[in-house]
Amino acid sequence: MAELTFDNLTKRFDGAPALDRISASIGAGEFVALLGPSGCGKTTLLRLTAGFEHPDAGTIRVGGDIVAREGRFVPPEDREIGIVFQSYALWPHKTVAQNVSYPLEVRRVPRAAREARVAEALDLTGLRDFAGRMPAQLSGGQRQRVALARCLVFEPRAVLLDEPLANLDLALRASMQEVFTMFHRRTGATMLYVTHDQSEALALADRVAVMQAGQIRQFAAPEVLYREPADCFVAGFVGDGAVVPARLTGRAEAGRVLISVLGVEVWARSATATPSHVSIRPEAIALSDDGALRARVIGCTYLGGRFRLELEVAGETLVAFSARRAALGETLGVTITDPWAFRDPEAETLIARVLNHA
Ligand SMILES: Nc1ncnc2c1ncn2[C@@H]1O[C@H](COP(=O)(O)OP(=O)(O)O)[C@@H](O)[C@H]1O
Ligand SMILES: [Mg+2]
Repeated sequence: MAELTFDNLTKRFDGAPALDRISASIGAGEFVALLGPSGCGKTTLLRLTAGFEHPDAGTIRVGGDIVAREGRFVPPEDREIGIVFQSYALWPHKTVAQNVSYPLEVRRVPRAAREARVAEALDLTGLRDFAGRMPAQLSGGQRQRVALARCLVFEPRAVLLDEPLANLDLALRASMQEVFTMFHRRTGATMLYVTHDQSEALALADRVAVMQAGQIRQFAAPEVLYREPADCFVAGFVGDGAVVPARLTGRAEAGRVLISVLGVEVWARSATATPSHVSIRPEAIALSDDGALRARVIGCTYLGGRFRLELEVAGETLVAFSARRAALGETLGVTITDPWAFRDPEAETLIARVLNHA
C-alpha cells in the first residue's frame, strides 16, 4: 500500500479552477475522506489521482513515484489504483465471479492463482454464495460489494471511492459503512473516500479533508474538525451548532482567550490571540433558569433521547440539547462554556474594524 501526495495541484475547466493549488499527503494505509458540498472538486481530485484527467499544474505521487507532473503522465492502467464508483460500473453480462476476476485476467494472472484470489475477495466481502449470480440479480448493497471485491482482488496501491453509498437507502448505508471499515482493517489499504455526507466522513475516516471551491479548508481528524474548526466554513459545514462573531477583550493566555460574545464575556479555547469568530457546539451550552444570557426558544425537535433546541439570543441562533421539551417562545437562561475561538481568513477586514473600536 502506498501513500498519496498532492503538491500544488491545479485543474481548470474552461479557465475556472476546479482544484486550486491542492497540497496534501495521505499516509500509506490511511483512510481519508474528502468532504465538501457538490461542485467543490472532490471527483476532480479522484479523477486526477486515477489518471483520467491531466493536471494543469502541480504534482501527484503514488508511493513516492511521480505519476503526474508537467512532462510526465503515467496512464491509469499503470498506476495500480482501484476505483469504486457510485454507479458500481459492473459488467452486466458477467457473473459476480467473472466481474471480480476481470482485473486479474487483464494482468494475465494464471488461472489457478486467479481463482484462489477471486474466492478470497468474495469471502472478504461476504459474497461467497453469490459467485454465480448476474449483477441484475443483486441488491444495490451487494453490487457495491462486488465493485469492492473487484477492486481489492488485484491488490491496488490505493483505493479511491466516489460517493459509493449515495445510491443506497439509509439502513443499507449504515451496514455498508461497516463493510468499508472491515475492508480497511483487513486489507490495510490506503483509501481516499469522497462523500458530501458528513456523518459518513466522520464515522469512517482517520482524517477528513474538508473542501470548498477547489481548496482544502482543513485536513484533520474528525474530532479535531468538530472541536477546533479552522474557519467559518468548516465550523458551519461539519457538526451542529452556531458560528458567531467574537469581540476581543484583550486578555489571552496560553491556549485560551477571553472574548465577548453575545454581550457576555467567555473564556474560549483558541490557537490564536486574535480570533474573529467562535464555534459554539450544543455541548458548550448549559441551560438553567438563572443563566446570564436570556434566550428565546424558536425551535424544538425530538432526536430520540433528547431534544434539539434552537435558541434566539441577540439576533443569533444557538443550538442546545435538552433532556426535556421546551415550548416555543419560552425564555431560558444560557451559559456558554469552553467554546472554540478561531480567526477566519476572510475576517481580516472585520478584525480591523473590531480592533479599531476596541
Ligand atoms: N469535465 C468537466 N468539464 C467542465 N467542468 C467540469 C468537468 N468536471 C468537473 N467540472 C467542474 O469542476 C467543478 C468541480 O466538479 P467536481 O469535481 O465534479 O465536484 P464534486 O465531485 O465535489 O461535486 C464543478 O464546478 C464542475 O462543474
Ligand atoms: Mg462528485
